[in-house]
Amino acid sequence: MSKPMQIDGARLWQSLMELATIGATDKGGVCRLALTDFDRLARDRFRLWCEQAGCTITIDRMGNIFARRSGTNDALPPVITGSHIDTQPTGGKFDGNYGVMAGLEVIRTLNDAQYRTLRPIEVVVWTNEEGSRFAPAMIASGVFAGVFDLEYGLSRADAGGKTIGEELRRIGYAGDAVVGGRSVAAFFEAHIEQGPILEAEGKTIGVVEGVQGIRWYEVTVTGQEAHAGPTPMRRRRDALVGTARMVAAVNRAALDNPPYACGTVGMLSVSPNSRNVIPGKVRFTVDLRHPDETVLNRMGAELEVECARIAGEHGLELDFKEFWYSRPVKFDTECVAAVKNAAEQLGLASQSIISGAGHDAVYLSRVAPTAMIFVPCKDGISHNEIEDADPRDLAAGCAVLLSAIVERANAA
Ligand code: HGY
Ligand code: MN
Ligand code: MN
Repeated sequence: MSKPMQIDGARLWQSLMELATIGATDKGGVCRLALTDFDRLARDRFRLWCEQAGCTITIDRMGNIFARRSGTNDALPPVITGSHIDTQPTGGKFDGNYGVMAGLEVIRTLNDAQYRTLRPIEVVVWTNEEGSRFAPAMIASGVFAGVFDLEYGLSRADAGGKTIGEELRRIGYAGDAVVGGRSVAAFFEAHIEQGPILEAEGKTIGVVEGVQGIRWYEVTVTGQEAHAGPTPMRRRRDALVGTARMVAAVNRAALDNPPYACGTVGMLSVSPNSRNVIPGKVRFTVDLRHPDETVLNRMGAELEVECARIAGEHGLELDFKEFWYSRPVKFDTECVAAVKNAAEQLGLASQSIISGAGHDAVYLSRVAPTAMIFVPCKDGISHNEIEDADPRDLAAGCAVLLSAIVERANAA
């Protein structure tokens, strides 16, 4: 006879805090870049906890880890939940880690209740979701969904030239399971919102209807190095002066498409980067986002034209290259309804929301009915060491996750 199922919020919080000690920073955040030794230690801890919860572990060739809890009919495709445990260099305790620990808490709660679903349930850790050490983002869920081929995925290199394949072997997570190509009954991902909406609206649960589109560019501006003293201003081809105007143009491209458009220059390097040499070359990244594909395409096209015009005025060469495109996605209506109904049955204040951040659920939605569950984070801040969340909200989101998973895992 199974006992009532109740998420243990204290156990969930404790697991999150313990995981956060791996790669902990002095400011209370987490620096656990993909496939570093801290990532290995966190992966090891996740596997140990899942094995202690009676799961079997499978690791695929992109290093994705699947912890499987059997159902009464293991021949059926599983319901999968999970997220990522790699972080930004100045990341927080909850981005990604919450979705993985919430999945583990669902397993632990089902065990406590001695409850067996029809379908097997898997909790997954996706490799390199952040796209910080290795670009693009969400690369391993992308290979799982067939968006990228395995060779492309394994060959992504970091700034030092180390590839995902090499680093997977180095940390002992180069699995031999095939990546993807298997049916998945449903995928659910719990995540902090990483923005201010739920907190501002006083809502506990975000019923995520979809994710906005993301486009990344890599831009190189080339002028001429020269002496900062004797070179007259009117003869200069200063790559950084031109770039400064282009950075302002990125900001304007977003401000000109309110209320959803976003534009960010997150990385910029100057060469030769010496205080008395006129910069000859600047490389920078552009991250444009919008929920509407047409608007996003137009923003990118207009930005490229504007950067070329600026380059022309300063006698500079421009190389403006699209690096990655994640198209806007709409999640599965039945899975979204399962999240919405669970929130209502649990008496939790909820609202529909579009995700501003990319998530592995974006790619899973191509191969499985998918939905996400958001909970608020403090002041809407994420990708920052001060990232914080209320344990009660985290437990509430996990209760919704449990309900949605059980509903789909019992559907024939
Ligand atoms: O870029 C994103 O939105 C995610 O954090 N990878
Ligand atoms: Mn994330
Ligand atoms: Mn992130």
